[in-house]
Amino acid sequence: MLGSPLNNTPGAPVRPRNHMRLLFDSRSENESFARVAVSAFMSQLSPTIDELNDVKTAVSEAVTNAIVHGYRDSFGEVEIESSLTQDGYVVIEVSDAGCGIADVEQAMTPFFTSQPDMERAGMGFAVMKTFMDDLLVESRLGEGTRVTMRKRISHAAGAE
Ligand SMILES: Nc1ncnc2c1ncn2[C@@H]1O[C@H](COP(=O)(O)OP(=O)(O)OP(=O)(O)O)[C@@H](O)[C@H]1O
Ligand SMILES: [Mg+2]
Repeated sequence: MLGSPLNNTPGAPVRPRNHMRLLFDSRSENESFARVAVSAFMSQLSPTIDELNDVKTAVSEAVTNAIVHGYRDSFGEVEIESSLTQDGYVVIEVSDAGCGIADVEQAMTPFFTSQPDMERAGMGFAVMKTFMDDLLVESRLGEGTRVTMRKRISHAAGAE
């Protein structure tokens, strides 16, 4: 699931006005790196502190999932691809080439976790859904998972 084009965003086709791609190791110390990198990139849209915090939290949840679930018994790379659109959206894809999810609908159900023993709440996807406007989860067993999220930035500078 790594390296795929940003072509399956929910809603209208994306007309990027800026774009970036990051590839990093599945290490927990990279969770904060990913959060800060996306936050710095999207600051061009002049988000409010609340909007910035919402996106940072959602990115954190998706990256943590890739690291702790996708690569739970292995090690690999996590990719973040992000676009800022002409109409003021930030679009973010978080992908891993890990174990994949057998049942995406079940995984997205609030309080469902495959790791209750690790004191996980099963709320990561629920948080992403709450803080972003759109959430799409695509996964294939043995191939990996791609989470695509989108949020409109209310006063995006220069938005059409
Ligand atoms: N990238 C992924 N690869 C494989 N499985 C995943 C991935 N992301 C999520 N999952 C599966 O979906 C379940 C639900 O994820 P979610 O983030 O909602 O909860 P959690 O990670 O278990 O707990 P929390 O996020 O509250 O700590 C996980 O327990 C895991 O089984
Ligand atoms: Mg989680």
